[in-house]
Amino acid sequence: ENQLGEGNSLWEFHPGKVVLPGFFENYVGRILDAPIRKDDVWLVSYPKTGSTWCQEMIWLIQNNLDFEGSRRVLQQVRAPLIEASVVLFEFTSLFGDDFTNSVDYVANLPSPRAIKTHLPLELLPTQLDKVKPKIIYTMRNPKDVCVSYYFHSQLLHDFYVDFDTFCEMFLNDAIAYGSFFNHCFEAWNKRHEGNILIIRYEDMKKDAKKTVRNIADFLGKTLSDTEVDMIDSYLSFECMRKNKGCNVEALTDKKHGEHSFDKTGIHFLRKGQVGDWKNYMSEEMSRKFDEWIKKNTQGTDLRF
Ligand code: A3P
Repeated sequence: ENQLGEGNSLWEFHPGKVVLPGFFENYVGRILDAPIRKDDVWLVSYPKTGSTWCQEMIWLIQNNLDFEGSRRVLQQVRAPLIEASVVLFEFTSLFGDDFTNSVDYVANLPSPRAIKTHLPLELLPTQLDKVKPKIIYTMRNPKDVCVSYYFHSQLLHDFYVDFDTFCEMFLNDAIAYGSFFNHCFEAWNKRHEGNILIIRYEDMKKDAKKTVRNIADFLGKTLSDTEVDMIDSYLSFECMRKNKGCNVEALTDKKHGEHSFDKTGIHFLRKGQVGDWKNYMSEEMSRKFDEWIKKNTQGTDLRF
């Protein structure tokens, strides 16, 4: 069974590999060959690791705190997902007439570009290794990722299974984008290369201002304390939840009708907590996750 349910072959499941719709084949070569610019900033992440929040920090820092632009234009248009035509195909009509193909759209963006992707590094443009633009990789405890993904799958992919079934699928890489650990290790193993910054959701939560400063330093930008405070409060959970420019509610409204929360009971900015898994996972499932984490991180220095 794949993420869209039995009989629906849209998300092709290859154990241990990347899970994407079959028609990704039409895009993979173009993404691998896409030209890279030195002043690009790439946000690479497994879904549900806080990437939308981090991408908005990046975009604001890169664009001199253009709060008005951030409110007015959807993040998917300002700082797009390169594979949007594959995984957000239902929604791309919201992104404007020139968004017929997300790879072309990214290629035509003016510099400096903020590009986002949930693809693992092995499926990204080969020029990344040569040109070495800045890459920011967001990570999060997989138990919280799993809970967040469970609700996200209902909200955006019409995928309804009970929570334990979803957990088993997560542990077996049988969800959209596939293996969590493959994804993490591709970035983790390159973290000393100088052009990669790893950001953890738990650190963003603990001290978002520090994360804003870290990203600004990494991008070679200087921010005053007031500017850091402004970004921090603009992107607080409550403010960002209300801000359709930088949350995903325009998409969920398209799917479920206006005020999608009233229909689904799920906000894209759902809870924004560290450790919410404790409210959903049985002790037995939590132990399974612990064993799976131990097995996958053995002999490495990656810890969650
Ligand atoms: P939860 O579902 O646990 O609430 P992504 O953007 O990678 O899809 O990650 C989404 C997760 O990040 C969601 O987690 C969401 O609530 C959380 N998130 C998004 N913006 C946030 C913010 N400003 N503050 C705290 N958490 C945020």
